[in-house]
Amino acid sequence: MKILLIGQGGREHALAWRLKQNPRVKLISAPGSSALASLGEVEPVAVDNISALVSLANRVQPDLTVIGPELPLVMGLADQLRSLGLAVFGPSARAAQIEGSKVFAKDFMVRHNLPTASYAVFYDLEEAQQYLEAASYPLVLKADGLAQGKGVVICGKLEAALKGIHDIARLGKGQRILVEEYLAGEEVSFFALTDGKAIKPLLSAQDHKTIYDNDCGPNTGGMGAYSPAPLVNKRLEEMILETIIQPVVSGLATEGCPYSGLLYAGLMVTLSGPKVLEFNARFGDPETQALLPLLKTDLAETLLAVAESRLKDVNLEWENKSAATVVMSAEGYPGPYREDDLITGLDEARKRPDTLVFESGVLKRQEGATPTYHTKGGRVLAVTALGADLQDAVNRAYEAVGDISWPGAHYRKDIGGKALHQSLLYNCDDD
Ligand code: AMP
Ligand code: GLY
Repeated sequence: MKILLIGQGGREHALAWRLKQNPRVKLISAPGSSALASLGEVEPVAVDNISALVSLANRVQPDLTVIGPELPLVMGLADQLRSLGLAVFGPSARAAQIEGSKVFAKDFMVRHNLPTASYAVFYDLEEAQQYLEAASYPLVLKADGLAQGKGVVICGKLEAALKGIHDIARLGKGQRILVEEYLAGEEVSFFALTDGKAIKPLLSAQDHKTIYDNDCGPNTGGMGAYSPAPLVNKRLEEMILETIIQPVVSGLATEGCPYSGLLYAGLMVTLSGPKVLEFNARFGDPETQALLPLLKTDLAETLLAVAESRLKDVNLEWENKSAATVVMSAEGYPGPYREDDLITGLDEARKRPDTLVFESGVLKRQEGATPTYHTKGGRVLAVTALGADLQDAVNRAYEAVGDISWPGAHYRKDIGGKALHQSLLYNCDDD
């Protein structure tokens, strides 16, 4: 089975690693990375160069194209490939608006009666400023369009909000600003596969969005994850499927843009039940690096079944274990970060049992017999370990992290902490 994988990060490394466990899979990645080059061919085509990706697919004639990141989805890559008769894992541009535009997503949620935070939308700074001056705090500011996890600011007071709207305005001209009610609770990432008809939930997971421990500091793309999330028991899973996932899938279908691919609901489990923070139109990063090592069912056949609208026949099976993923990032991230530092200890970490090191921002250089690895991104590595339970998985992941170093390497020390201790208090003094 020839699979074209679009993307280059740690999520794609995990997808590729799992896809390649099917011995029939031949992998071609674009633009790929040095990690992806060790699992198949790579073609240096950027994820936003839609016409070049379409030409590549036309030439390669893959049995399946798996689109990792949101940008090519929102730009309509899946639509163009489908119009060539190719099987694609990933939603159409219209369905991907559920991630691509927060205003679309919020309006959709209101139309379909989904539980979410109340909100107001502003088209200019002055109007937003007036609203913020009269508002009560905390509240949340969001940029409308894609912002790589950086378009959300949680504001404890007016001063932070006034700075926040200017930061959002700087993200792009004509950027609409959403002001949202702050939801208190426990955050969960809920993933479901759907072909527009059948829905199959994956294991639950929890991300760690901020750069520092105790959920402090600015938001990032995600600094660690674990799966399953003990908070999501059978009853809560049923509630999420019934009140959130099913209405989205049927709502998009009735609005003429059926969803096919992975639907990711970022949820806050509040005292009054689960509420939607955001939807994503793709696998989460780093949750995927924790989830896929637990999946027993063949991933290639599963994603092909989604693409060919045969999901109802698939039965997903999981390891009876826990997984923890610790992201190691470069000094400065999520702001401007250091690059091209020599990474040591990767081989040692990879030799540990039940341990996987996925590469998000790494460049492998081969000068002479032994390769060297260098940092080439904000998030550099996602170190995953499996364990009999969450504590065991977390311990093993941190042991592997301890093997690895480079100048300025940063990682959170509290991945899994909330589930293990249930006692972390909100005590950041930076907002
Ligand atoms: P989003 O990109 O919308 O998921 O927001 C990024 C992160 O900001 C989320 O993962 C939450 O941690 C936080 N967040 C977003 N919206 C809210 C909200 N209404 N209340 C509390 N926290 C939020
Ligand atoms: N883990 C957050 C995201 O993938 O958007």
